[in-house]
Amino acid sequence: MATTVVIGAQWGDEGKGKTIDIIASKADVVVRSQGGDNAGHTVVSGGETYKLHLIPSGILYGNVRCFIGAGVVLNPVKLCDEISGLSARGTAFGNLGIDPRAHIIMPWHITLDGLSEAYRAGSNLGTTGRGIGPAYMDKYERSGIRFYDLVRPGLFAEKVRSAGKLKNDIITKVYGGKPHDLEAVIDDYSQYAKLLKIYETDVSEAVFTAHAEGKNIMFEGAQSTLLDIDWGTYPFVTSSHPVAGGVTVGTGVGPTMIEKVIGVAKAYTTRVGTGPFPTELFDEVGDKIREAGAEFGTTTGRPRRTGWFDAVIVRHSVRVNGLTSIALNKLDTLQNIPVLKICASYKKDGKIINTFPVTIEELENCEPVYEELPGFTEDISQARAFEDLPENCRKYVLRIEELAGCHVEMIGVGPGRDQDIYR
Ligand code: GDP
Ligand code: IMO
Ligand code: MG
Repeated sequence: MATTVVIGAQWGDEGKGKTIDIIASKADVVVRSQGGDNAGHTVVSGGETYKLHLIPSGILYGNVRCFIGAGVVLNPVKLCDEISGLSARGTAFGNLGIDPRAHIIMPWHITLDGLSEAYRAGSNLGTTGRGIGPAYMDKYERSGIRFYDLVRPGLFAEKVRSAGKLKNDIITKVYGGKPHDLEAVIDDYSQYAKLLKIYETDVSEAVFTAHAEGKNIMFEGAQSTLLDIDWGTYPFVTSSHPVAGGVTVGTGVGPTMIEKVIGVAKAYTTRVGTGPFPTELFDEVGDKIREAGAEFGTTTGRPRRTGWFDAVIVRHSVRVNGLTSIALNKLDTLQNIPVLKICASYKKDGKIINTFPVTIEELENCEPVYEELPGFTEDISQARAFEDLPENCRKYVLRIEELAGCHVEMIGVGPGRDQDIYR
């Protein structure tokens, strides 16, 4: 198995958790490099559903080492909840490692996420409310608190007292909110620190060594290319780098380690939160996709916006991530839709545009140009080879492959671990 990056090629929730879980059966190491518990990755195994937010989706295999890299923003409360929830279901955590450089999501980050969203009422971003943006702001402002600090009680108390004072001033004086009791924060987080200290690991060094020993390594992307702070629909994005390049800075390894980059896409498009979405459907087909695909957020439960497959955004993902192949999930969801549309390009001021516009202002003036293909009525959930798929289904996949300019290597026909086709 080559060293593989698995990232989202659309606006998130493409089924990265499922795809990673499948490939992780051959992996020795799975690494998360960015984002935080804004991610919600679902794995369905043996009829059981697992929703993972911070823990890499390799954890369900007892022998896979799972790492949380330096680029992640980590909420210790959520991580401990996740560990205890999964432990109760029999998952072992001896193989978990957390980089001391990872920044901690503090209670004021969550408060400020909510307050700034409320302040922007009407033009808010629709964040997950997990404190992600405020935590990355502090990281880049160079005032953040890291996992290293969290698990060293004296240092942590000192940092909370100094960082928390300014945060409380902002909460109360700018937003008129309620301050955090800093001593209570220290006490509360210290309980979690005690539980998490055993996981402290220099992830950069551990991954480098595992690679040198010939181990199989996978990097698990969270969020997605179109939510990347630079390569997404700014400002309607997250605050990290979900693109393939993000895994090297977020883990502390060089790009020469990466051999394969799989972009996970759905056979249609969804988006949760605010922001432009050219192929969005507002009709009964959109509702049908939402119902059939159970398109409700894994983290927030919000209904996801649904739309046709957009080849322009996936071509953008092929370019900015250097995709070597695509995993196309949820093809089964499109059963019984008589006509399937694929957006092949956009039209702007009477001209055809084949590349994704640089800004949302330009994107707002783009109209999707659709190709229509006949749909399929057959149940494909039992298909395990490309040849098992009905002809219309195969044609749909082959046209996506052609328009994206990238090989479709895996096809998802259901949420289960075994419901996948390799080509
Ligand atoms: P992630 O954030 O990219 O890991 O995706 P989510 O887990 O948030 O959302 C994907 C949803 O689709 C989950 O409920 C998965 O169980 C489900 N899923 C993944 N692949 C398939 C597939 O091929 N078919 C169907 N029907 N569901 C799938
Ligand atoms: P996974 O890994 C889908 C979206 C939010 C919002 C924007 C900013 O499950 O694919 P944030 O809380 O990050 O500041 O919110 O990003 N968003 C996601 N959408 N899937 C995700 O993760 C997401 N993580 C963040 O809805 O629009
Ligand atoms: Mg998700």
